[in-house]
Amino acid sequence: MRLKKWARPELAACPWAVDEPEKLRGHWREAFPREAPFHLELGCGKGVATAAMIADNPGVNYLAIDISPDVLGDARRNIAAACGEDPHNALLARANIENLLWILAPEDRVERIYLRFCNPWPRRCHEKRRLTHPRQLMQYRSLLPVGGEIWFKTDDDHLFEISQTYFQVAGFEPVWQTEDLHASGFAPNYVSEHERMFTAQGIPIKAGIWRRTAEEIREDFTRWHAEPAHPPRPRRAAGEDGRSAPD
Ligand SMILES: C[S@@+](CC[C@H](N)C(=O)[O-])C[C@H]1O[C@@H](n2cnc3c(N)ncnc32)[C@H](O)[C@@H]1O
Repeated sequence: MRLKKWARPELAACPWAVDEPEKLRGHWREAFPREAPFHLELGCGKGVATAAMIADNPGVNYLAIDISPDVLGDARRNIAAACGEDPHNALLARANIENLLWILAPEDRVERIYLRFCNPWPRRCHEKRRLTHPRQLMQYRSLLPVGGEIWFKTDDDHLFEISQTYFQVAGFEPVWQTEDLHASGFAPNYVSEHERMFTAQGIPIKAGIWRRTAEEIREDFTRWHAEPAHPPRPRRAAGEDGRSAPD
């Protein structure tokens, strides 16, 4: 993302872009003018889907988080264009989702979390950086009540597949899933900038909703891998390495 000189000053001047989110930890609900269900978007990017969702749902309070002030600048502009310069139900914050519990606490009672097109981190050595890795899911879990939901979308087949395991071990049950969101008829679907791009490339969008269960999870996932360190080598065809393949 290229540097946008205007983004930081615009965020600094915007009353609904929170400068020190850690100071609102445990008090996010009081930061909105109206009490309402509280939903969180993680890695909102330029906020194309975020803006449409916020405009469509005035009865829900949203906090959209991203690590990059440059994309948050775009998100701010997109939300202002869709909802006006003073949306009553939107807050933006710059934060690292890997340290989400520095800025949010269980008392914030997040009812739903959106994860749209997070980086797939395809290499095993980066597995723990995936935002659906159980190390992360356990953070989200501590913010959600039993029955609270995570709405996840991705273009990436492997991330979608392995995330099934991640959600299961972290105490989430599947509510609904599709491997082709746009063919599924699911509505309303708020299309993000990455969703638009991948769809234009002909890549089907994978999506699902998972619900937090009541089960107690004690496992420490800090160093946990779902993928084997040494994946089994594909069997060589007979003669390929000078030997016959085993029967
Ligand atoms: C691939 S983009 C997706 C943006 C948008 N959700 C969409 O669907 O188009 C991923 C976004 O997540 C943000 N991000 C990645 N890792 C993050 C982290 N650890 N904490 C906060 N934001 C992060 C990036 O800055 C980027 O804007």
